[in-house]
Amino acid sequence: MSSINISKIPNSLQEHWMPFTSNKDFKENPRLITGAKGVYLTNHKGKTMIDASSGLFCNPFGHGRKEITEAVAKQLEQLDYCQPFQQGFGGSFDLATKIARHTPGNLNRIFYTICGSTAVETAIKISVAYHRAKGNSQRFRFIGRERGYHGMNIGAISVGGMVNNIKTFASILMPGVAHMRHTHLPEHKFISGQPATGVELADDLERIAANFGGENIAACIVEPIAGSTGTLVPPKGYLKRLREICDKHGILLIFDEVITGWGRTGSAFASQEFGVTPDIITMAKATTNGVVPMGVVACKEEIYDAVMDASPKGAVELFHGYTYSGIPVAVAAALAVQDIIEKEDIFSRAKEMVPYFQKGLFTLQDIDVVENIRGYGMMGGIDIKMNVKPGKAGFECFKACYEAGVNFKATGDCLIIAPQFICEKKHIDEIIDKLRTGILNYSKNLKN
Ligand SMILES: Cc1ncc(COP(=O)(O)O)c(C=O)c1O
Repeated sequence: MSSINISKIPNSLQEHWMPFTSNKDFKENPRLITGAKGVYLTNHKGKTMIDASSGLFCNPFGHGRKEITEAVAKQLEQLDYCQPFQQGFGGSFDLATKIARHTPGNLNRIFYTICGSTAVETAIKISVAYHRAKGNSQRFRFIGRERGYHGMNIGAISVGGMVNNIKTFASILMPGVAHMRHTHLPEHKFISGQPATGVELADDLERIAANFGGENIAACIVEPIAGSTGTLVPPKGYLKRLREICDKHGILLIFDEVITGWGRTGSAFASQEFGVTPDIITMAKATTNGVVPMGVVACKEEIYDAVMDASPKGAVELFHGYTYSGIPVAVAAALAVQDIIEKEDIFSRAKEMVPYFQKGLFTLQDIDVVENIRGYGMMGGIDIKMNVKPGKAGFECFKACYEAGVNFKATGDCLIIAPQFICEKKHIDEIIDKLRTGILNYSKNLKN
């Protein structure tokens, strides 16, 4: 008997233009998720799947957390919305204090945005505003990195290094952006942790500074570990060298920790994990366990002070903000997440699971279609051998794994694995077993 629950499939799938989706393929064979609890998802066929990527890296504390649901419901009853311009409510200040307890150094000034992309665009604007306030308006250039992903607004795709974005939207990209090379070298094969080679790739920043004049560069933005393009772990010493070059030229260093923030590496932020303090950190996703959109920009105190000092009292110091900057429901969810982090010592829990997860991940290297595996903390990337054209193998393999009962995100030909921090060893085993089944099924189909 078929277990398909037809009532869960909408009458028409045509009107919704889905984001980052092969719409035509999906609408022929939809994958609808109907429920989520703990580490499991249920689809419209009634099948249970394990969530191996924490949604899109955003639900590491588990699906269906009652504490968050209750906090959001209570907030909606008490104060559903409050405009964030020239007004406020207590929660956003409490949350900023709590976030600042986790951020490294004196990155204690917290600006709320709507998502990761808006956090990145805000960081770009704050960098420009800071340099203007210091009398350095000539600093308008930004340095990103190939294979970087920072979101989808114009600022974010300009500093990002995803080829499709750069090609498709070339005519509207921000001016004055240069890219360093990415950090993935051919010899980086099946390495768990930081590769020993490639520190010199950071010198690209020095070369760009020599070319354009370091005094004209506002900021350099990188993901400490490039997440969306396949868990590219920074070579040993790389981030430290970037920091040194930025300091030499007065360039702000922005770490985009939208994925690596809130425990993904085993430390609160990758910054602490790698011992390098940037000037600005962007975060989003896990801030609310993914249940309400929210982005955050944490800045060094001197950045905030410079922007404040440049304006007379009564003026709006930073001409920037969003209707949904730190709205009550997002703040309520984020405060509930802060409680979970504290009560469950959840970063330590993630850190303890890292060796087990990494070991399990690398057991998949014997599969013939697995070309490479990379990993750090509770993140991993599995490259599947290209099949005819880039992206096909990754997508087909993703679908085979979905059928095998494990869900995750694939980018191009890379399967991106990011388990939830509430995973027990048995859940990691289940993820790895089902990945093996799914990848092998994909491989068998290729041969038939
Ligand atoms: C590092 C990084 N920055 C920014 C973003 C964009 O976040 P959002 O999709 O919330 O705009 C993402 C999304 O995956 C990301 O991985």
